[in-house]
Amino acid sequence: MTPISPAARANVHLIDHPLVQHKLTLMRNKEASTNSFRRLLGELSSLMAYEVTRDMATQDIEIETPLEKMTAKVIDGKKLVFVSILRAGNGILDGVLSVVPGARVGHIGLYRDPKTLQAVEYYFKMPKNMEERDIVVVDPMLATGNSAAAAVTRLKECKPKSIKFLCLLTAPEGINTMYKAHPDVPIYTAAIDRELNDHGYILPGLGDAGDRIFGTQ
Ligand code: URA
Repeated sequence: MTPISPAARANVHLIDHPLVQHKLTLMRNKEASTNSFRRLLGELSSLMAYEVTRDMATQDIEIETPLEKMTAKVIDGKKLVFVSILRAGNGILDGVLSVVPGARVGHIGLYRDPKTLQAVEYYFKMPKNMEERDIVVVDPMLATGNSAAAAVTRLKECKPKSIKFLCLLTAPEGINTMYKAHPDVPIYTAAIDRELNDHGYILPGLGDAGDRIFGTQ
């Protein structure tokens, strides 16, 4: 088992809320249908969105209640961008957008070149004015961490105000890789699993997240 360096571990926000843990257990079960897997992922993503947006900036506005005027806080959801790493990241979007409906959405697609083993970009579409925005990158599984690190490297070219990484499951290898490449990017996850197998799957994990979301296995 690969140890996680203490600095890398300190960069991980483990979301251990009982509801999150309960739903994650239901998702891990191989008997969960595509329908329930997708529904649970949506519910879990909304719960995790609360944690990842905890330090979001608010601004004061003047409003009038039925009784009197007051100054009250609002968030500017339009400044937040959820960036989905295709394709499994799309499974997280509905849930997080149900909590922050005004957020913008970007997509990034990467595949691994079988010869060079390097991440190659095949799709990149972001909202305008990225330098004014906070990014939350979403992908259910942080396994080797290679595509996550490559996606964040590419997103940094847009010079956003901040970047966070939101996933369901992590493995020690992925946490270390991300920390080495991007120590400034905190990771939000519902679990840190034991290790990767020889095919880069997380153990005990939940299998191939994309296949389970889209029913393609
Ligand atoms: N991607 C998946 O979908 N599952 C894993 O276990 C690792 C990477």
